[in-house]
Amino acid sequence: MNYPFWDTATGYGLLMAGIAVFHVFISHFAIGGGLYLVVAETFARRTRDSARLAYLKGLSKFFVLTTLVLGAVTGVGIWFIIGLLNPAATEMLIHNFVWGWATEWTFFVVEIAAALIYLYGWDRMAAKDHQIVGWIYFGAAWMSLFIINGILSFMLTPGTWLATGNFWDGFFNPTFLSSLVLRTGVSILLAGLFSLLVAARLKDPSARAATVRYNTIWGLVGLAVMAPSLLWFWNAIPDSITQGAVDTMRLPLQAYEYSWWLAGVLAALLIVFGLLFSRRFSIIVAAVMMALGLVWFGSFEWMRESIRKPFVVYDYMYGNATELALADTYRDTGLLTHIEFRTGDDGADLFRHACRSCHTIDGYQPLKPAFDGTDPEYIAGIVLGTVALRGNMPPFLGTEEEAALIGDHIYGLIDQRHLAEITGAEGAELGKRVYDVRCGRCHVFGGYSDKAESILGMEAADLEDLLDMAGDLGEEMPAFTGDDVERAALIAYLTSLATDGGQN
Ligand code: HEC
Ligand code: HEC
Repeated sequence: MNYPFWDTATGYGLLMAGIAVFHVFISHFAIGGGLYLVVAETFARRTRDSARLAYLKGLSKFFVLTTLVLGAVTGVGIWFIIGLLNPAATEMLIHNFVWGWATEWTFFVVEIAAALIYLYGWDRMAAKDHQIVGWIYFGAAWMSLFIINGILSFMLTPGTWLATGNFWDGFFNPTFLSSLVLRTGVSILLAGLFSLLVAARLKDPSARAATVRYNTIWGLVGLAVMAPSLLWFWNAIPDSITQGAVDTMRLPLQAYEYSWWLAGVLAALLIVFGLLFSRRFSIIVAAVMMALGLVWFGSFEWMRESIRKPFVVYDYMYGNATELALADTYRDTGLLTHIEFRTGDDGADLFRHACRSCHTIDGYQPLKPAFDGTDPEYIAGIVLGTVALRGNMPPFLGTEEEAALIGDHIYGLIDQRHLAEITGAEGAELGKRVYDVRCGRCHVFGGYSDKAESILGMEAADLEDLLDMAGDLGEEMPAFTGDDVERAALIAYLTSLATDGGQN
């Protein structure tokens, strides 16, 4: 917590996702495209195919422009954003991998220089030298992947580094190899898809058909490398991580599973339009294939980022920069003493450091709707019980007094009217709203931590007792602090559910 908190109106997850997805597409294309260019050039020179050489020259211009300009801008953008969003995690990654970064940047400089020489060397250099520069480019680009892959995969599976703190243990971590092969496959796939986009615009029909077939092979090879290594990657992740994710991260995992169908469709399109009917190939087909490839890859990245939650470095540092190893210290001494830059408003500072990196009040992942119509005591109870909520949250690492300060702070920003007034509902209907707000974050009927068996079928009097002792039912479960109207409505709702067998 040695940094000030960057508090703006945006959702940090969205901001990061927006720039990272874009960068990741470009940077993988930068690797696969480099390989594609130099291999295709060698082939074209050997067969004295001047049409293909002209096409490659055009492609390399498009290639160098997109990868260098967009790749560099978004790459710097990522550093900028993560430095603002999570300076502690950024610092931790820099410290641990300082020589890794230095090596990666060296390769990056070589990559840029080689790309420029390659682009301007088409007519100025001897064919052989030009190809050597092409290989230098690809080698440097792939090596920069090799290094960044070690650091990225470390964040998900730090492996024995957690015990040893050794650079190489962290770098060659359990998902290093599968992830490297996978990303190499992605690079080849993207090279095929990007070059198909360019090939679709070639004028001469027979040159176009031949180039389309050639590029299609790249796409298919990329798919063939990527698909099995995705399974390999998944299996290389420790079960404790994947199982937890399957239980709590439904949406990204489902999106990822469905995305395999897109990969199937992509393979079919490649075979049909790229190989069988390559003369009919059009820019529209190319664009559809590109979109399918990007969505498939994008859903993998989303899955990979999601299953790490609530950690930023698994089992080491949480998304809000609190460190697992310091959990007891924070709980004993309080979180506030560890916050170096304070604004004078303790509740607001605590909220920023405990919750704000993942939630806004009323924008992205908003808390206001979850708390409207409740009270400071209840909110403080939820702060203390975050681990029991549906979703995947870090525990609150602070004292009870600090949780109360966060409760007061959030309460000051929500709709403070009672639920009956906000919703205009009464009776069992109001009761359902009370359940959703005060119980449903932690117990879903027929779903997460279902309590139907215990609650449904209880008499009203027993429910009264249950609500009286709610605060004692589970360590993370807050006391019932709703008003009398809400209490009666909740009981009416629960007894009405019991009579229709929990069908509602
Ligand atoms: C590392 C990220 C992270 C941090 C830090 C975090 N949360 Fe969450 N929170 C989540 C995620 C992810 C969900 C699940 C969202 C979903 O299911 O749509 C969630 C859900 C919630 C919900 C339920 C929202 C709903 O509408 O059902 C509440 C309430 C909540 N968090 C409160 C808090 C509070 C209070 C804090 C600070 C003490 C906090 N969270 C800190 C990630 C985080
Ligand atoms: C912050 C999360 C949270 C909220 C909110 C919450 N509970 Fe719980 N509840 C728990 C936890 C944790 C336990 C103890 C572990 C368990 O039994 O799953 C628990 C236990 C229970 C139990 C007893 C255990 C059993 O199986 O019989 C019942 C009944 C229950 N809750 C009902 C409710 C009702 C009704 C509400 C709303 C008034 C509510 N809970 C609100 C987290 C919560």
